[in-house]
Amino acid sequence: MKMYVLVFLPLASILASNDRVESKKDRALPRTQAPTIQPLVRILVESNEAAVQLDVLCGMYEALQGRRGLRAPEGWSEVYRKLAASQNAEIQEKVLQLSVLFGDPQALAALRRTAEDVRADPSARRNALQTLVEKRPDDLLPLLRKLLDDRAVRSSALRGLAVYSDPQTPALILEQYGKYTDAEKIDALATLASRPNYALALLEAMERGRVPRRDLSAFAVRQLLAFNDKKLSERLTNVWGSIRPPSAEKTKALANYRKAVLPDAIKKADRKHGRLLFSRTCASCHTLFGEGGKIGPDLTGSQRANPEYLLTKLLDPSAVVARDYQMTVVTTKSGRVVSGLVKEESDKTLALQTQNEIVRLDKTDIEDRQKSQQSMMPDGLLTPLSASELRDLIAYLSGSGQVPLPPAPSDKDK
Ligand code: HEC
Repeated sequence: MKMYVLVFLPLASILASNDRVESKKDRALPRTQAPTIQPLVRILVESNEAAVQLDVLCGMYEALQGRRGLRAPEGWSEVYRKLAASQNAEIQEKVLQLSVLFGDPQALAALRRTAEDVRADPSARRNALQTLVEKRPDDLLPLLRKLLDDRAVRSSALRGLAVYSDPQTPALILEQYGKYTDAEKIDALATLASRPNYALALLEAMERGRVPRRDLSAFAVRQLLAFNDKKLSERLTNVWGSIRPPSAEKTKALANYRKAVLPDAIKKADRKHGRLLFSRTCASCHTLFGEGGKIGPDLTGSQRANPEYLLTKLLDPSAVVARDYQMTVVTTKSGRVVSGLVKEESDKTLALQTQNEIVRLDKTDIEDRQKSQQSMMPDGLLTPLSASELRDLIAYLSGSGQVPLPPAPSDKDK
């Protein structure tokens, strides 16, 4: 009976709290498995109930995910042999992912085969690739490069490339940029904005018109400014324009924006076009009418009917920021900058929700960590919009109910 009690405890917290005890006791030792994993391994060996197995596996995975340098607990090879043959695909996948975290070369090879297998289920392929990225085996970089050509896993490959500092990466990503979907473009730009030398290549592509200026979100722009690299910032200002107008300018801008959204103008607005603008500039973070991201608050229930409120928030997002939404900026030892909201944190790992993904970092990889006073919602979102675009966006935001997207003109060209 005892073992069932254990199953129903939140596994992640058992494992995490045990880690703490262990690390206080013997800091000098290499990182090993917490002793409480052992009873869980025993449950996996003994139980034949799929629901129990899955529960335990998921709990272990959640607690250990993102950590590097783990060793397999005693008896794990038996668990692997038994559960890799399970009828349940989810169990198979989880046991494989855990074996990979424990550094099992066979499991790594199996995961690699799944990631590359064009006939396998796309979401299993993406999961496989993501686990590989977390584990970073030696030969991963060539695989990521190759999978850039594979539409089913391209987004995961683009994100994975952010992990490595490699001079070939920017050119590889930019070569195919025009063919990417909107979502893939966001991933491509997030990776290119993650290191100063990548960013220079990106700005060059923008100067040459190979990447449209408007594709670079205000969010990415702010990340580039955060590098505090004078040359980079100057070039950015040339390519993209200023993103932090002084207060007097803001006041003036607000007066102009107000004129664009007077009731008479709103009546003439095209809400469908407004929805298109929303899906391009806001939907990665906000849900409206049941669709969109969850990084920022759901706007359906906000004060969105009030154009004045929308304009002030959009013009100066960081003027007032709820505590929950203050951004953390982390620099890794390899020089990657990740900014986002803290999603989960344990003694060993930190998970940040960035604009496009959840990035899990092993704390030993972190060089610097700062809490930013700024909202994760970027400045300058309105800068690229014309008066009629602003009117359409505000009309869409403040109107009641969903409208269809306009027909996409680019579909014919594809
Ligand atoms: C990178 C993510 C991100 C993007 C892109 C973004 N926002 Fe936000 N937004 C946030 C976050 C996080 C908050 C909550 C923190 C704050 O208030 O600053 C927020 C807050 C808001 C609020 C206040 C909500 C409230 O409940 O008071 C409004 C209104 C808003 N956003 C509108 C927009 C619109 C319109 C766009 C597109 C033009 C947009 N946002 C783009 C992240 C984003």
